[in-house]
Amino acid sequence: MSEPLIYELSASGREGVKPPQLDVPESPLPKTMLREALPLPEVSEVDVVRHYLRLSQLNYAIDKGMYPLGSCTMKFNPKVNEVAARLGGFTGVHPWLDPEAAQGALYIMYSVQEYLKEIGGFAAVSLQPAAGAHGELTGVLIMRKYHLDRGDTARDTILVPDSAHGTNPASSSMSGLRVVEIPSDARGNIDLQALRAQVCERVVGLMFTNPNTLGLFEEHTEEVADIVHSCGGLVYGDGANMNALAGIMRPGDAGIDVMHFNLHKTFSTPHGGGGPGSGPVGVAAHLADYLPAPIVALDPDSSPDEDPFFIFYDPPKSIGRVKAFWGQFGVIVRAYTYMRMLGETGLRQAAEHAVLNANYLLSRIKGVYPLPYDRICKHEFVVEGRFKDAPDVHALDIAKRLIDYGVHPPTNYFPLIVPEALMIEPTETESKQSLDNYADILLKIAAEARENPQLLHEAPHNAPVRRLDEVRAARNPVLRYAH
Ligand SMILES: Cc1ncc(COP(=O)(O)O)c(C=O)c1O
Repeated sequence: MSEPLIYELSASGREGVKPPQLDVPESPLPKTMLREALPLPEVSEVDVVRHYLRLSQLNYAIDKGMYPLGSCTMKFNPKVNEVAARLGGFTGVHPWLDPEAAQGALYIMYSVQEYLKEIGGFAAVSLQPAAGAHGELTGVLIMRKYHLDRGDTARDTILVPDSAHGTNPASSSMSGLRVVEIPSDARGNIDLQALRAQVCERVVGLMFTNPNTLGLFEEHTEEVADIVHSCGGLVYGDGANMNALAGIMRPGDAGIDVMHFNLHKTFSTPHGGGGPGSGPVGVAAHLADYLPAPIVALDPDSSPDEDPFFIFYDPPKSIGRVKAFWGQFGVIVRAYTYMRMLGETGLRQAAEHAVLNANYLLSRIKGVYPLPYDRICKHEFVVEGRFKDAPDVHALDIAKRLIDYGVHPPTNYFPLIVPEALMIEPTETESKQSLDNYADILLKIAAEARENPQLLHEAPHNAPVRRLDEVRAARNPVLRYAH
């Protein structure tokens, strides 16, 4: 990076802020609070503003351009949702307020619970989990408690297809269960024969992602649920990909017993935006008593239509609390605003357009980029980032070269069942022009791979930083500036 860092702008005696004259007696800070050396930069306000603006411009963002990071649903989220979440009445509400003084906040939470019940086809919803993976852990704990409560104590195994999201086996094993992997068949569905071979009285349930990480709809969802139920197991559906299904298919109707939603993918909050997420869990009626406590309920003594009063309610067999206070309230407000803005038909249309956009982009690059499972995709698809006639070029080279063209790369090397995977999720908020632009770039890069592979190996050429050692950066992060 050639730009000066804030410490390099420092000039002795330069000030950015002039505090007002003291109007209280000066008193020294306790020694324990002071450091011997604290070399802060001495900079003006203009230095600071320019420094942070410049840093923000080094970043890529969905507000700059297309961000088709598969599995992350990096769609453009209307700014009005941010405005709503920042309203003083919402940001200022204290979590310890008596419910009587926070009826507006409880109304929002109750409404989002109700909308998610309707969208997912569930009997009850808890808003507590703070992210998708947290929702999965919550769901598995619910499934385990359900079996234990029934005296069914020998169940210690969870089945997870190889096309599931990486968090699925991780959250399952975090809950202390043995994970058994189920392979996919030639069409990218769960292999039913392999599934049948694994169901037995040790099985807590199955956790699967639908649409799966290949971007494909599980064609035998109901049969999968029947097979798992036949041994007394439960079915966990990872609903983080509801962006393909909302308003079209209700997982609860297809036999899914428990599922999390990713509000920070499907319902407005940006995913991976550095802020909190939210992973509400929906359950079928037989699991409703196990949801994490508390959830928001209508006071049975109040009139739902004329004078509703909302209370916190602890389900009788609850697994307990999984999060401090009431969940990620700001994210819930964004989801509420988004759902109210779109309404029933708008939500369905968003899912339809997400699927249409993915299929359009796939049709533009199919034949050039190898497609391991040649089917209509849902909201995303996975191609191979490799070419027979350019054997030295890898998915990573293609991803880095995309940066040179000013667009964000897709997810690469995931899912693991596709070699050199490029997982592309354009989302519904991209126009035909931006999809065409992305397809043109991908086709151009495929041609470059054959004509001048070195160009790809050395990419990116015009980014603020070149290729980083990502493993070392993650394992040994340098988080502070030092000469
Ligand atoms: C399919 C799927 N499942 C689970 C998750 C995990 O969600 P989170 O990142 O909120 O933990 C994600 C995240 O993108 C996902 O795409």
